[in-house]
Amino acid sequence: MPSSHFFNGWKYYLCGMMSEQFFLPKYEPKVPSSQTVIWSAPSNIALVKYWGKKPVQLPANASVSFTLSNCKTITEVTFFAKKLKDDKHSFDVLVDDVSNESFRPKMESFFTKAQEYLPFLSSGHFQIRTTNTFPHSSGIASSASGMAALALCLMSIEKSLDPTMSEDFFLAKASFLARLGSGSACRSIKGSMVAWGSHPAVSNSSDLFGVPLRQPWHEFFLNYQDTILIVEEGQKQVSSTAGHDLMHNHPFAQQRFEQAETNLSDLITAMTQGDLDEFIGIVESEALTLHAMMMTSNPAYVLMQPATLSIITAVWNFRKSTQIPICFTLDAGANVHLLYPKSVKSEVLSFIEQELVAYCQNGRYICDELGEGSIQLNVYPNS
Ligand code: PMV
Repeated sequence: MPSSHFFNGWKYYLCGMMSEQFFLPKYEPKVPSSQTVIWSAPSNIALVKYWGKKPVQLPANASVSFTLSNCKTITEVTFFAKKLKDDKHSFDVLVDDVSNESFRPKMESFFTKAQEYLPFLSSGHFQIRTTNTFPHSSGIASSASGMAALALCLMSIEKSLDPTMSEDFFLAKASFLARLGSGSACRSIKGSMVAWGSHPAVSNSSDLFGVPLRQPWHEFFLNYQDTILIVEEGQKQVSSTAGHDLMHNHPFAQQRFEQAETNLSDLITAMTQGDLDEFIGIVESEALTLHAMMMTSNPAYVLMQPATLSIITAVWNFRKSTQIPICFTLDAGANVHLLYPKSVKSEVLSFIEQELVAYCQNGRYICDELGEGSIQLNVYPNS
């Protein structure tokens, strides 16, 4: 079946039976011409969290995220067709134009997993240049935006072999490939809110890739703001991979997966109706439950810092005394994301300056907001 007949596959979505096979190439094996492609992909922040997975990189529960606008990765991939064919891919990685070997193991594993779906990977050498718009040391993970940008670049090269490929297929396969690199990366492709994981409240949802949620959201949620308070710069002590693994045999795993499924339906209802109290309740409960899972893992660990708890308490007090609908969420780290409607931005920024900046490492915070997803670029920054 040619990939341009994507909608022939739609029925598989609807009965939840779509399989990985759908993303195997449908064209005769070919070597692309040498070329350069550039994509920018944003970071995302989950409202309903993905925590726990099944092989291969499939979520134990459905999740949903806001796509950010300013925190993004820009990646340029130059493909050099090999003169002599061998069976192994090869690549170089330049981060901010400096050769960086620390990315190699993750990239190596990604190329190996993606080979089956992109057979041309072994027919060339890839030069990968990448840069983030947020500082490396900020404690904001770049794996979601980074893997999404790389997957999109590889899809552009595949499209040169299969020009009839539909845009839907291109985006779904980019999300599918990004997921193989880092689960949450599949939510960094397209759309301001993205769901990943098969769920009855989200039509066409799949465990294999993320889908944009196109509900008629209440106007409160248009232009939503995310200010990221940097409590801890640098790498976190326990990786997400290790954290996901600890959900196997976790005493509360099953209840947690069920809770996430319910929270996702309730969140969609709250956002459609403009019920900010319900939205805030779900989002904060999701953040605290994520960290409760870490604290009740075996071995247990804590990623929040004293400053994280001080910020949470200050946010609760500020919300109570002003009735301003601000809430927090947390990633797998100590930093705090403050979420609020644009209409209260100036009040929230004064609150941050007066009360919260003291808890931020080196006084740092990053102002971001809802974005629309990745875009293809013609020029790499500063080149
Ligand atoms: O995509 P990973 O494997 O880095 O896991 C991400 C997990 C959380 O960020 C904590 C939650 C989420 O859904 O993004």
